[in-house]
Amino acid sequence: MTEVLDRYPAPAGFAGPNTITEAEYNRLYKESIDDPDAFWGKVAKRLQWYKEPTKIRDVDLNPDNFKIKWYEDGELNVSVNCVDRHLEKRADKTAIIWEPDDPNAPAQRVTYGELYTRVCKLANALRKLGVGKGDRVTVYLPMVVDAAVALLACARIGAIHNVVFGGFSPTSLADRVRDCDAKVVITADEGLRSGRRVALKANVDAALQLPDVTSVEAVVVLRHTGGDIEMQAGRDHWWHEVTANEPGECEPERMNAEDPLFILYTSGSTGKPKGVLHTSGGYLTYASYTHECVFDLREEDVYWCTADIGWVTGHSYIVYGPLANGATTVIFEGVPSYPDSSRFWTTIDKHQVSIFYTAPTAIRALMRDGEEPVKKASRKSLRLLGTVGEPINPEAWRWYYDVVGDGRCPIVDTWWQTETGGCLMVPLPGATAAKPGAAMKPFFGVEPALVDANGEFIQGAGEGNLVLLGSWPGQMRTVYGDHQRFIDTYFKAYPGMYFTGDGCRRDADGDYWITGRVDDVINVSGHRIGTAELESALVLHAKVAEAAAVGFNHDVKGQGIYVYVTLKAGEVPSEELRKELVAHVRQNIGPIATPDYLQWAPALPKTRSGKIMRRILRKIAENAPEQLGDISTLADPSVVESLVQERFIR
Ligand code: WTA
Repeated sequence: MTEVLDRYPAPAGFAGPNTITEAEYNRLYKESIDDPDAFWGKVAKRLQWYKEPTKIRDVDLNPDNFKIKWYEDGELNVSVNCVDRHLEKRADKTAIIWEPDDPNAPAQRVTYGELYTRVCKLANALRKLGVGKGDRVTVYLPMVVDAAVALLACARIGAIHNVVFGGFSPTSLADRVRDCDAKVVITADEGLRSGRRVALKANVDAALQLPDVTSVEAVVVLRHTGGDIEMQAGRDHWWHEVTANEPGECEPERMNAEDPLFILYTSGSTGKPKGVLHTSGGYLTYASYTHECVFDLREEDVYWCTADIGWVTGHSYIVYGPLANGATTVIFEGVPSYPDSSRFWTTIDKHQVSIFYTAPTAIRALMRDGEEPVKKASRKSLRLLGTVGEPINPEAWRWYYDVVGDGRCPIVDTWWQTETGGCLMVPLPGATAAKPGAAMKPFFGVEPALVDANGEFIQGAGEGNLVLLGSWPGQMRTVYGDHQRFIDTYFKAYPGMYFTGDGCRRDADGDYWITGRVDDVINVSGHRIGTAELESALVLHAKVAEAAAVGFNHDVKGQGIYVYVTLKAGEVPSEELRKELVAHVRQNIGPIATPDYLQWAPALPKTRSGKIMRRILRKIAENAPEQLGDISTLADPSVVESLVQERFIR
């Protein structure tokens, strides 16, 4: 039996050249808050600039005079920082290790020297296709080395990439291509996941036929599985053909620090997903600095983040952070359960992974299979573990620590968001003894505060809505195409502060515990899905009059999706229709949005002003009707009774 502790300091002898001790953390944190200009000016020197910034920060978060600018007179190129800069010392160092879906297929190792050539060739080809500075390029690729190459090639020529997760449907892909007016789409014939083929190119073809998707001039197609696909003459080009005769050198575009680097869509409480826009200088400074400090990076590390490049974690902590730091980063095409649930651990042995970063949902799923699959591998190479995406329950934390890490690897529980560009709260491994389930302490320059419903600050121990005072270089700059929505979404609820959408508790030691979303975002296996998106997908169906979606606690996924559907008059509920509606949501958004439960609702509980009372629907979905509370303000309290009767009882 392993000892159950409240606090887990790093083991003796853990420290390496980049380890931040507790005293250093305290000193640097104070410096970063007292004089952010001096602090972040120094940090920016870790990058290679054509022109070093002299203006460090120009920020005003008040909605009336709003601005966020970092390093605004600096000039750099992000791909030069991630590749060219390392050629002198690390040309033969492995930049990327690729582990394919099939463990018996050959893995690949790509050096910084080879990466340089591949990036330059694609960058040249994109330029020939007419892509230039500021143009948008949508990337819809599987987890292959070329996904990183595509991002870096865009960065090299100043194009703004927009990665769309390969699990999204043609409709979701089309929404994103349309919103950002992408000129080019980069995709592959097919993806592979647990032996199954994913029809990426066919999805692109379907998406580009949808209404008002008119901006795309060219599609670049990577041959990956060799599967059969259609190529449209004039529009579609094979990657290997357009790059074949391009030189392995490419003049990088000189970019301003505030020029956009990428757009990544994420779900919020209302409306369609927002195009979160990140810029070049601040984002890269923040991604690279946090990657080094949080993971206590060392030259010889083999670093593996299991996220998908379609999410922000893949952007900051598979591609940009690690490559800017000259690290060796693993790109994994497969899933944790294929061919069996020892895949993560045997892969760690195979590539001698020393830092492993994954999501609580994966840990909980693997935990159910017990220790045996873990013990199949030695995991001796591991020295640090990380988690991201959702709160981790202490039981899963301890299993990760004791079983996976053999009680000798610190865990960094990293709290952050698509909007924040990089990690904002974390127990730095050499500085902070972790508490299972807590994000613990703010990173440098980050000032968290808790507010109550009236906007009053909560002092000392307590729980409230998490806001951030001030800015940090990796903060998003706008919602693409809708700057007002950016201000309204994040800076209006508590004027002059960034509202995270998360709830949070501060304990008596002053340490932070994220409690989860307090808005209408459901976090399913670490993926954000807006209730509004689910509802609008459902009402698109001809038989649906109205729908409401809520989250409920799920043992493995963190949260699951529970939807209530009111059919149009004359339509009759049936098992068949239930399946059809669930499939309809999958098709419209993607498999990650599949409802776990779909309950027929003769009517939805509404206030007299017509607002759906989600609080009540949440309690019913949680199977806790005894906690419904006051329902007297409902227009028709009797609808609740029938919903309670018909609820799914687990
Ligand atoms: C949640 C992922 C608790 C949180 C990087 C946040 C977490 C949302 C943690 C952002 C964590 C992420 N502990 N909750 N360590 N990390 N979250 O934009 O609710 O996909 O607001 O970014 O995930 O999800 P996103």
